[in-house]
Amino acid sequence: MILVDGLYHSRSGREVLRDINLRLERGEVLALLGPNGAGKTTLAKHLNGLLKPTRGRVLVDGIDTKSSSVAELSRKVGYVFQEPERMFFTGRVFDEVAFGPGNLGLSEDEIEERVKRALSLVGLEGYEDKKPLSLSGGEMRRLAMACVLAMETDYVILDEPTSDLDGWGFGAVVEIIGKLRGEGKGVLLVTHDVELALEVSDRAVILSNGRVVFEDKPEELLSLDLRDYGLREPLGIRLLRRNSIERTR
Ligand SMILES: Nc1ncnc2c1ncn2[C@@H]1O[C@H](COP(=O)(O)OP(=O)(O)O)[C@@H](O)[C@H]1O
Ligand SMILES: [Mg+2]
Repeated sequence: MILVDGLYHSRSGREVLRDINLRLERGEVLALLGPNGAGKTTLAKHLNGLLKPTRGRVLVDGIDTKSSSVAELSRKVGYVFQEPERMFFTGRVFDEVAFGPGNLGLSEDEIEERVKRALSLVGLEGYEDKKPLSLSGGEMRRLAMACVLAMETDYVILDEPTSDLDGWGFGAVVEIIGKLRGEGKGVLLVTHDVELALEVSDRAVILSNGRVVFEDKPEELLSLDLRDYGLREPLGIRLLRRNSIERTR
């Protein structure tokens, strides 16, 4: 379990996160929703120790992130960044995905097996020899995802996984998340897409101005006026609303 306990985070003298209390269990998908600037990425980066609390603490399977290195934590918590191109540093897709597993002391065969499996999960089979930076934006996002999947960590953080996928779809992301949950992994899904949260999450949290303002089953999102939370309503709801307004005219 990842436990966020009374977390505050300040940056340049400004409080970006305030009194956050959260749990992420294995085998669970937690959706972290909120508009741009709410603090979602800042919070997510605390779960793998990239950022440390100004106050409060984060425990990953009982280990305080303050007393653990990012390298250690990256074996437990995988993070797929919002801007994946920044993380690539090799000239070849295969090497990029093989790098993490290579650090785990696995055999060459096992590494190759993991690279294959991860690339196929994200629909990039056959891309092994391409240059990461020559890929399209959507393909880079999928490659970033493959790098994390190949680590086979117990927890996976996906930061806005459905933005900018070049049409490779929503459905594929839903499928990958379902697979991760099926394997008993804990998934933190950072998104402003309510539809995605409804489709795959077990629990949803809304962050607004650095505070948790909602935490419940995803269905309960539909009892809110999502517009008040800076979130876009799913298409079905917008259509229903338009219909009912037209009917009452
Ligand atoms: N590197 C940074 N330095 C200073 N402030 C930042 C930095 N990154 C984000 N912020 C600020 O922190 C707040 C939360 O940002 P972020 O966590 O990226 O939100 P979200 O992911 O929900 O869009 C915003 O007000 C943003 O301007
Ligand atoms: Mg963000």
